[in-house]
Amino acid sequence: MIIVRSLQKMQALAIKWQKQGRSIGFVPTMGSLHQGHVSLIKKARRDNSVLAASLFVNPSQFGPKEDLAQYPRPFFRDKRICRENGVDVLFCPREQEMYPKGFNTWISVDDLSKPLCGAFRPKHFRGVATVVAKLFQLVLPTRAYFGQKDFQQLRVIERMVQDLHLPVKIVGCPIVREQSGLALSSRNSYLTRAQRLAAVNIYSALRAAEEVIKSKSYVSEREVRRAAEVVLRKARGLRIQYLSVVEPSTLKPLTRVTGNALVAAAVFAGKTRLIDNVLIRKS
Ligand code: PAF
Repeated sequence: MIIVRSLQKMQALAIKWQKQGRSIGFVPTMGSLHQGHVSLIKKARRDNSVLAASLFVNPSQFGPKEDLAQYPRPFFRDKRICRENGVDVLFCPREQEMYPKGFNTWISVDDLSKPLCGAFRPKHFRGVATVVAKLFQLVLPTRAYFGQKDFQQLRVIERMVQDLHLPVKIVGCPIVREQSGLALSSRNSYLTRAQRLAAVNIYSALRAAEEVIKSKSYVSEREVRRAAEVVLRKARGLRIQYLSVVEPSTLKPLTRVTGNALVAAAVFAGKTRLIDNVLIRKS
C-alpha cells in the first residue's frame, strides 16, 4: 500500500490506472475506521482491480460549534486497517491543498440537504457534496462506496452524481451494528459506558417503529413516531434531536405510511450526537 498526499500525484496515478483499463474502487472516509468502514473496503476490494481509500477530516462539513477539533485521528491504526484489508493507495490530502486560500466553489444539492440532519446542520451537506466531488475528480473512481447509516448523505451524493453526470457508480452498503444493535460510528468512541448502554435504545426504538409499520397496511406517521419515542424516552440520558418518517428517495415527510419508508433519528447521548435509521420496504 502506498500513501499519497499530493493531489496532483493522486490524479496522475488515477489517470494511469484508467489508461490501463483498470476499475478503480474508492472508499472516502474521515478516518477513525471501524468495522463499518472495513465492510466498505472489503466490498470495494472484491468489485475492483485497484482500490483507493481516503482519510480526510473535512472541515467544511462541520458547523462552528461541532467536534472538528476533537474528531479522532488515529492515523497509524487507520493505515494498518487499510493495509490489512487490501487498500492499494491511501490518499491523505492536506487541508491547505484541498481548500487553498481563495477557495470559493461549492456544490449544493438543495432539496435533499434541507430535512433531517440538514435542518440542524445547515452547511453540512454542502461541505460533504463539495469534498466528495473534489475527491472524485482526484481519484477518478469507477465505483465509490458509502454506508447507509448516513442515509441522507448517500442520497445527496447519488443526486449530485446524477445531476452532474459524474461517471462513477455509487454503491450503498448496509449499516454495520454491534451485537447490542448500536450502529458503528467513529463518534461512539466519545461515549461513556453509561451513554453507550443508553444509546443501544436508539436501534430498539427504530425497530419498534418498524414493527408498527410492518404490522399494518396503513399507519399514521404519528403512530410510528410514538412507538419509537416511547422507547427513547424510557432510556435515561438520551435527548431526541429529530425522529422522522420520510419517503426514502425524496426524504419528504410522510403523514401516513403505506409503502416504503425511512425512519431516521438523531439523538444526543450527553454531548455526542448519534444518527441511525431503518429502511422499510413494503412495495
Ligand atoms: O461519511 C464520511 O465519512 C464523510 O462524510 C465523507 C463522505 C468521507 C466526506 O467527508
